[in-house]
Amino acid sequence: MLEELFRNNRAWAERIKHQDPDFFRKLAKQQTPEFLWIGCADSRVPANEIMGLLPGEVFVHRNVANLVIHTDMNCLSVLQYAVEVLKVKHILVTGHYGCGGVQAALQDSEFGLIDNWLRHIKDVYRVHESAFDGLNDEDRLNLLCELNVAEQVANVCHTTIVQNTWKRGQPLSVHGFIYSLGDGILKDLGVNISGLDELAPIYRVLRKSEHLKRSP
Ligand code: CO
Repeated sequence: MLEELFRNNRAWAERIKHQDPDFFRKLAKQQTPEFLWIGCADSRVPANEIMGLLPGEVFVHRNVANLVIHTDMNCLSVLQYAVEVLKVKHILVTGHYGCGGVQAALQDSEFGLIDNWLRHIKDVYRVHESAFDGLNDEDRLNLLCELNVAEQVANVCHTTIVQNTWKRGQPLSVHGFIYSLGDGILKDLGVNISGLDELAPIYRVLRKSEHLKRSP
């Protein structure tokens, strides 16, 4: 079974080299992706394939239910590197309909350690609770998948990493997309943020404080 993976890999590398003999040599020297993809770990939602992009064209971070948690060093490190070193121009937060993580968050069952990760999705539900009135199970799930994307777009923008990027005058837009497993179509949710003035005032970081105040 594993043998097949290596066979596939050699065939793939040959195919690429056939199309562009210098492809791997050029790519080995540097990567210059214009996009950072933050998506779900779901095996059916692979960033490159969906967008028809080659190696080197998209920097990728994936986790269960495409969450951007304020204190997640993994995601924040990816974000910092993508923005400050690679200087990506677009961040694509991409959810998908029928997401298992979002579905689990809608239930009242215990799943183990992952409950502590999925609780962030319950927080999104609570904020928008009235929007779910009268919906059937499938529509509830899909609405929460969409609202979760919008929330994670905002979380990306609230980081000092992204806000400092805008303050430097470096162009950067953050977008919310959603993918349909049923037909393979990627949709723009129309959630796009590209500047400090588009953030809710409470999240804006406009100046550096000399020190944190001693309490109280
Ligand atoms: Co998912």
